Amino acid sequence: MENKWLFLFSSLFVCFLSVQAHELQTYIVQLHPNGMAKTAFGSKVEWHLSFLEKVVSSDEGDTSSRFLYSYHSAMEGFAARLTTDDVQALKRYPDVIAVRPDRKHEVHTTYSYKFLGLSTRNEGAWLKSGFGRGSIIGVLDTGAWPESPSFSDVGMPPVPKKWKGICQEGEDFNSSNCNRKLIGARFYSKGHLVASQSESPDGMHEYLSPRDSHGHGSHTASTAGGAAVPMASVLGYAAGEARGMAPGAHIAIYKVCWYNGCYSSDILAAMDAAIRDGVDVLSLSLGGFPVPLYEDNIAVGSFRAVEHGISVICAAGNNGKIESSVANVAPWIATVGASSLDRTFPAVVRLRNGKILYGESMYPASHLLSAEKELELVYLADGNKGSDFCLKGSLPRAKVRGKMVVCDRGINGRADKGQAVKEAGGVAMVLTNTPINLEEDSVDVHVLPATLVGFDESIQLKSYINSTRRPKARIIFGGTVIGKSRAPAVAQFSSRGPSFTDPSILKPDVIAPGVNIIAAWPQNLGPTGLPEDTRRVNFTVMSGTSMSCPHVSGIAALIHSAYPKWTPAAIKSALMTTADITDHKGKPIMDGDQTATLFAMGSGHINPAKAINPGLVYDIHPDDYITHLCSRGFTRSEIFTITHRNVSCHYILQRNKGFSLNYPSFSVIFRTGMTGKTIRRTLTNVGSPNSVYSVVVQAPEGVKVRVKPRRLVFKHSNQTRSYRVWFVSKKKRGTIRMQHGQGYLTWVNTRDSLYRVRSPISVTWT
Ligand SMILES: *[C@@H]1O[C@H](CO)[C@@H](O)[C@H](O)[C@H]1NC(C)=O
Ligand SMILES: *[C@@H]1O[C@H](CO)[C@@H](O)[C@H](O)[C@H]1NC(C)=O
Ligand SMILES: *[C@@H]1O[C@H](CO)[C@@H](O)[C@H](O)[C@H]1NC(C)=O
Ligand SMILES: *[C@@H]1O[C@H](CO)[C@@H](O)[C@H](O)[C@H]1NC(C)=O
Ligand SMILES: *[C@@H]1O[C@H](CO)[C@@H](O)[C@H](O)[C@H]1NC(C)=O
Repeated sequence: MENKWLFLFSSLFVCFLSVQAHELQTYIVQLHPNGMAKTAFGSKVEWHLSFLEKVVSSDEGDTSSRFLYSYHSAMEGFAARLTTDDVQALKRYPDVIAVRPDRKHEVHTTYSYKFLGLSTRNEGAWLKSGFGRGSIIGVLDTGAWPESPSFSDVGMPPVPKKWKGICQEGEDFNSSNCNRKLIGARFYSKGHLVASQSESPDGMHEYLSPRDSHGHGSHTASTAGGAAVPMASVLGYAAGEARGMAPGAHIAIYKVCWYNGCYSSDILAAMDAAIRDGVDVLSLSLGGFPVPLYEDNIAVGSFRAVEHGISVICAAGNNGKIESSVANVAPWIATVGASSLDRTFPAVVRLRNGKILYGESMYPASHLLSAEKELELVYLADGNKGSDFCLKGSLPRAKVRGKMVVCDRGINGRADKGQAVKEAGGVAMVLTNTPINLEEDSVDVHVLPATLVGFDESIQLKSYINSTRRPKARIIFGGTVIGKSRAPAVAQFSSRGPSFTDPSILKPDVIAPGVNIIAAWPQNLGPTGLPEDTRRVNFTVMSGTSMSCPHVSGIAALIHSAYPKWTPAAIKSALMTTADITDHKGKPIMDGDQTATLFAMGSGHINPAKAINPGLVYDIHPDDYITHLCSRGFTRSEIFTITHRNVSCHYILQRNKGFSLNYPSFSVIFRTGMTGKTIRRTLTNVGSPNSVYSVVVQAPEGVKVRVKPRRLVFKHSNQTRSYRVWFVSKKKRGTIRMQHGQGYLTWVNTRDSLYRVRSPISVTWT
């Protein structure tokens, strides 16, 4: 599925380049938050509209029809359809502080809760937090399918009193579709409609309401806070009880993603409402290319959300393994990359010569006998027509009819390839990974018997086909297998650091399960999501950092329920300092055939049982982010755009000499000629009142690390203690080639070594 969204994403630039001066396009106009005080307007909306009236001449008809949204909470300002001339005219008004074009974004579990150690039997995170009771998770996505058993409210507590949201009516959706689980639902389509102006693609019906037409939103929302559903399975696979990460939490749906993507004008409108509605956690499984923070509407909206005490959790993106591809990198956001589980769905390919190639698939069990037939193999390696990728219409019927067709991964969706083979008369398919995917197996519920093999296997398969006149093979399906493979491991598609816009903050922050995740699915869609797929399911399997993000959103909701007063920064610190850096076999987490670096996994793999009891946290006050922006060299007006605060960086930096953001991870950058750096950090005791911690350092190669003091003594809870770290580069100019180094700094409780507060150290020489 990830391919489909990547494709949508890549059409972004086309629309930017084609803008003409007279053409109307959506812009987001940011206004001075106190600007209205100087005017006589009775409401914010009137004030916002007045700007349009000033620049749009009256002979162009009704100006209000150009107006899309008025924002107050995520930002002060509005979205409207404007020409480039209008934009120039608007920029002359002093109260207009920024104008940005609308931007398109892509949308980037029966088992993952057990894998993460969440269970009712032990003293787990679920019991401690009452399963996330009382927390509200806002999900910005493609909507939800309210009748899904994952959104049942049996056993749910009443809607929290602080909740101010609504259940917005629309096509096939009314107030009776909300309940004590799905407590709110809204939809935002204006930005999308302006940009798209076309009918939705063939065979796809898009509900103009919070109802999910795609499945992605039902999947992510149920991963975060879905109810427990016994006997859940995908056509017989992975059978078991399905539950979200925080099954006791409430969910609020904000539909902002449509067939053509998710527009920032719609996203901002949703964040604006969610802040007022009273969500505790915002989950955004979407994103775009990394852009400077002052042009990044998600960064701007989420700063206001964090000021309101809302945790903002975002997907890192699916552009791995490209360096610096990680998106949603603002320091107040928790950025989540993807990992694989230890659950596999073996479906091996047995070649006629007896050789067995390992593969994985989720083909429905009831069809197995006929599916395992031996068939003639065919691979049409004609790059021009796209038949190697099995693009729709590229496969000549005469060549594939009755055969097992080999298709390379990439370009179109994995399930789409199966449909293309089926349409051309093929009866089975082997999907082959390329060097981009290596051995990663993202399975699908294909429309015909199919399996996916790794890159090594694909080479063996293709040379067998080359070496034989009538190559034949059969697929042997092996059901669901748990615990055999090494996991967690970094998913190959997971976007990588270092952060393009701010390398002084290590990103991604954490990784969480994102490969072959099973969660809720609209009841009018087939498990592949293809219009031709007539099968019906309540659950399906998907892969992507989109799936990882709601895992962390659910766990953030658990922490919020256990400690309602904690700031978003404290919650994020708990998630990061307790993350695992080894896999279930106790060995370092892998990334393909290499050990994962910090740019792939950040602080590590999320561990909810530990995150609910972190001992110490690195807390951050919103003012500290402003000092950080000052120290990064942002201008006064850029900082004003991002944070709505008018500050003098000169004054702030003078009062905060040697400032470093109290982030739970370290990123040290040695510029040429620089040999040392001192960083200060402050820890807050959230564990037992009397506790003593001592430091353990694993220094990066080529760096000397000194910490002072080496012991931190806490006498009561909520007490803070600071320490300093000196990083000294031992690298002599020209002697070491290495550009990056990595290590760890860990505070270990002297009485109970289970409390380990670990921060990764990333060092870069530039
Ligand atoms: C909502 O829709 C359902 C099904 O169409 C209908 O039975 C119900 O009366 C509607 N409820 C309201 C409040 O409109
Ligand atoms: C198979 O043969 C084709 C053309 O004859 C060649 O381009 C390709 O590299 C061969 N593939 C393998 C895996 O041997
Ligand atoms: C999906 O869930 C509904 C409601 O729980 C149930 O009636 C239906 O049988 C389920 N469908 C499938 C395919 O399992
Ligand atoms: C910020 O404050 C300065 C000095 O107080 C003032 O000159 C400037 O106009 C203010 N800027 C904004 C955007 O409010
Ligand atoms: C902890 O201390 C800070 C001030 O240092 C205070 O604002 C906060 O309310 C305290 N939190 C708790 C839970 O007592």
